[in-house]
Amino acid sequence: MPDYPTVTEAARAKLNLALHVRRRRTDGYHELETLFAFVEHGDSVRVTPGAVDSFTLAGPFAAVLAGEGDNLVTRAAIRFRDCFGGGAHMIELDKHLPIASGIGGGSADAAATLRALAKLHGVALDDPRLIGIADALGSDVPACLLGRTAFGRGRGERLVPIPGLPGTPVLLVNPGVAVSTAAVFQAWDGIDRGPISTGNLLAVAREGRNDLELPACAIAPAITAVLAALAAQPGVLLSRMSGSGATCFALFDDAAARDAAAAALQRPQWWIAATNLV
Ligand code: C5P
Repeated sequence: MPDYPTVTEAARAKLNLALHVRRRRTDGYHELETLFAFVEHGDSVRVTPGAVDSFTLAGPFAAVLAGEGDNLVTRAAIRFRDCFGGGAHMIELDKHLPIASGIGGGSADAAATLRALAKLHGVALDDPRLIGIADALGSDVPACLLGRTAFGRGRGERLVPIPGLPGTPVLLVNPGVAVSTAAVFQAWDGIDRGPISTGNLLAVAREGRNDLELPACAIAPAITAVLAALAAQPGVLLSRMSGSGATCFALFDDAAARDAAAAALQRPQWWIAATNLV
């Protein structure tokens, strides 16, 4: 019997309802303004204290991730132990989100690992040391640790929670290509197209943009076809690429419209998930 109960944490996919790139920084990162939102669909991370460390993978995208040298889950666990102690853990990742796809799969997994470890070892989720670990693991990890609708600045780590649109039907579509975040940011044209306005979330998101769509489409032209197909679906409130791509999303006014779009958009290479905002 373990000393502590097993903790399972959802690693929900992250969406950037809008993502405005404002400038290139001297540290190589880009100054952003973004609207983060989360959907029900995602990975899940199960953590159990054990005698030795272990990491196992299951789920539809397990094989893709297994081919990668290191991953954010084990890095998160190492950093947690360096900071808070807590001994060895058995970590199981159920991988449902495509890799390198703009919906924060790796970031959500790292954040879910930190949340599970924090719960097991009595660390507050708003402990600045935990947030510091999240920040060091990646620009989207603090947002995924928070796990709720938020306005993000800086690299995306300076967060202000905002009211969300829970229950809004969402379709996620990925053309089956992995895109390098660094390469997409590198290909950004350097033009500041202006800030995100304030007000009603849906109105603000619709007024906004994802400034990474142009560079991402130049690198992976298949994204252009996904964006066009989503925009043409009946009942779409907003359609856009998330993060640095290649996953695009659409928000719908009802679940029937989302499900009809899901049926209409089936293609051999495309990954599609019908879900809802949380
Ligand atoms: O922070 P993270 O490791 O997820 O970022 C991956 C890469 O994406 C960075 O090395 C950087 O090239 C690029 N990036 C950026 N500006 C951001 C976030 C990421 O240029 N705000």
